[in-house]
Amino acid sequence: MSLSALRRVLLSRVTSTYTYSTAAAEESRICTLIPGDGIGPEISAAVQKIVEASGAPITWEERDVMAVKGPGGKWVIPADAEQSIKKNKVGLKGPLGTPIAAGHPSMNLLLRKTFGLYANVRPCVSVEGFKTPYEDVNIVTIRENTEGEYSGIEHVIVPGVVQSIKLITEQASRNVAEFAFDYARQNGRKTVTAVHKANIMRMSDGLFLRCCRETAEKNRDIKFNEMYLDTVCLNMVQDPNQFDVLVMPNLYGDILSDLCAGLIGGLGVTPSGNIGADGVALFESVHGTAPDIAGKDLANPTALLLSCVMMLKHLGKVSYGKRIEKACFDTIKEKKSRTKDLGGDATCSVFTDEVCRRVKDL
Ligand code: IPM
Ligand code: MN
Repeated sequence: MSLSALRRVLLSRVTSTYTYSTAAAEESRICTLIPGDGIGPEISAAVQKIVEASGAPITWEERDVMAVKGPGGKWVIPADAEQSIKKNKVGLKGPLGTPIAAGHPSMNLLLRKTFGLYANVRPCVSVEGFKTPYEDVNIVTIRENTEGEYSGIEHVIVPGVVQSIKLITEQASRNVAEFAFDYARQNGRKTVTAVHKANIMRMSDGLFLRCCRETAEKNRDIKFNEMYLDTVCLNMVQDPNQFDVLVMPNLYGDILSDLCAGLIGGLGVTPSGNIGADGVALFESVHGTAPDIAGKDLANPTALLLSCVMMLKHLGKVSYGKRIEKACFDTIKEKKSRTKDLGGDATCSVFTDEVCRRVKDL
């Protein structure tokens, strides 16, 4: 199967809400679970509990991910985690910390590299009943996820002068651009905006932009815009409602997706999915490990739970995903069982039990 055909199959799984057979909904699936560090294990346990309460036919295969040295002394993820993800094709991951001066790369990035997870999708939708200065935000950032400034090509030229190389390839740019248009179409969205600084980085962002333009030509049913990153930031904080789907290179996506998450209440309520070319998809919460509250039953599992909802939809288990999503949003809306980060005083367990109670009733 060609890459673009495979992408189409994969995308139809990620996004479409009406083409699933009942068989897909009921078929039991094994998913890799990487609980992660800090608050990771407790929010993962909360998500497992809620998924179980929903009756979704998911079996978890738990794997720890820490840096290990592979053949040739290269940093790799543990073989049992790699095999599990390769076999299951789908995983859910809590936060993984990278201690400063750990001597190894971020495991988050290594996972993206290992499985070629070329598109990172972060829907930022206002949470009903949780007031922020912005209303009715409904944006999706789609970030190139494997190259750009994240390529890790850095060296000292002479002492006191270092160079970091931003790598942009036609292939990766085209892949993420095509993904963005397919995503827009399959989710009933109208506009894709390419975010860039091709006025400054004429060659690298220029190539990215050219790939977006060419992809736009082949997808005339979706409106295409292009905007400078700084202008997007300015306009975004003034009126986010003018934006729909945004596609951009890696570092811009990292920064702009945090900005968009900030509009709706932060990383504690924002899900994320990493989609790969070989059928692998890894869903993750984007927030940190919060070591200060780890083990205290205070963490908010919402971001990981909503990432799990994305995962269930990807697997064709849309009705389970929707029920969990509704139970989660209803719990937040009702205010009584909110965790501290959302202005409440509930523990993670109280919030989780309330979502479980609601999901059983739906
Ligand atoms: C994210 C995170 C990661 C990134 C970190 C944890 C490496 O901020 O997923 O946005 O910079 O991509
Ligand atoms: Mn980030």
